[in-house]
Amino acid sequence: MVCFKSKKVISLKISNMSISVSKVVKSYGLQKAVNEVSFDIKAGEIVGFLGPNGAGKSTMMRLITGYLTPSAGVVKVNNMDVSLYGKEVRRNIGYLPEHNPLYLDMYVKEYLTMVGGIYQLPKVAASVAKMVELTGLGNEQHKKIEALSKGYRQRVGLAQALIHNPSVLILDEPTTGLDPNQIIEVRNLIKTIGREKTVLLSTHIMQEVEAVCERVLIINNGVLVTDQKSDNLAFSKVNTELVVDVEFNNSININLLNQLEGVIKTENVANNQYRIFSTTNQDIRPELFHLAVKENLVILSLSQQKQGLEDLFHQLTQ
Ligand SMILES: Nc1ncnc2c1ncn2[C@@H]1O[C@H](COP(=O)(O)OP(=O)(O)O)[C@@H](O)[C@H]1O
Ligand SMILES: [Mg+2]
Repeated sequence: MVCFKSKKVISLKISNMSISVSKVVKSYGLQKAVNEVSFDIKAGEIVGFLGPNGAGKSTMMRLITGYLTPSAGVVKVNNMDVSLYGKEVRRNIGYLPEHNPLYLDMYVKEYLTMVGGIYQLPKVAASVAKMVELTGLGNEQHKKIEALSKGYRQRVGLAQALIHNPSVLILDEPTTGLDPNQIIEVRNLIKTIGREKTVLLSTHIMQEVEAVCERVLIINNGVLVTDQKSDNLAFSKVNTELVVDVEFNNSININLLNQLEGVIKTENVANNQYRIFSTTNQDIRPELFHLAVKENLVILSLSQQKQGLEDLFHQLTQ
């Protein structure tokens, strides 16, 4: 009884913090591909790992999965130091590497059975059947992997990452190279799986993070530049602007637009068309309307939007 209780306490502790990265550096010669990166991911979170090519996403993911050792700092998965407990950690991690390396001349079922064997699963056939069902590979399971479309290959990649029922999933650009329908299918699959697991998903597509993740980490040149809930992004400190696009029937002196209350700057984007950036607490549209009347101008079009994740990404990684 006592033993059972203490087990419970341990599992509670484990589920508290799934991934913990502390001041991690990975150097390649003089280059720091990952430079003093720290973040924590709690159990059950789906976190997007966003950054341009070469930012250090794959390197960070290989450090978490234990395929690379950090030059400095500590990576823990389920409270276990990856450098010390690599084997145990890998039992708890499902990893879909970038470009999804698969044995193309193997059959789907044969391949998944082999992976199940590597993990020494007690009931390999049942686990394979479960994965085939979960990832929707029913009609493809008897085919050779080389005969599958890229979307279905990605499902095989996800099935191999999930077959040992890991608590943590590391997915390196899982939708890159897929067509729009396949992207939606794979994203939905990740969302379904993510209900029960901790997921870190890398991508260079901003919309992917908005579609799938609750939280986003943005990395640029090996440095973590932001870590926040994806809902909050539009309201973040670095991102406090409203953007108003306006078209008049004639040109206007740009200084008149800049003088409106709340306006930060104005760009003359095309003939008689202006993009006005203002603070989020100031809706400049009524004043804009009065100004147009005063200047004897007609507003042909007017739209206002908040800066989104895409702008933020651009701002932070330029
Ligand atoms: N094995 C390696 N040897 C030398 N440089 C590397 C190696 N792996 C990655 N890099 C460099 O580290 C940086 C980060 O790469 P990577 O983690 O693959 O970025 P991302 O996945 O964000 O595109 C890049 O500049 C890349 O060239
Ligand atoms: Mg990469």
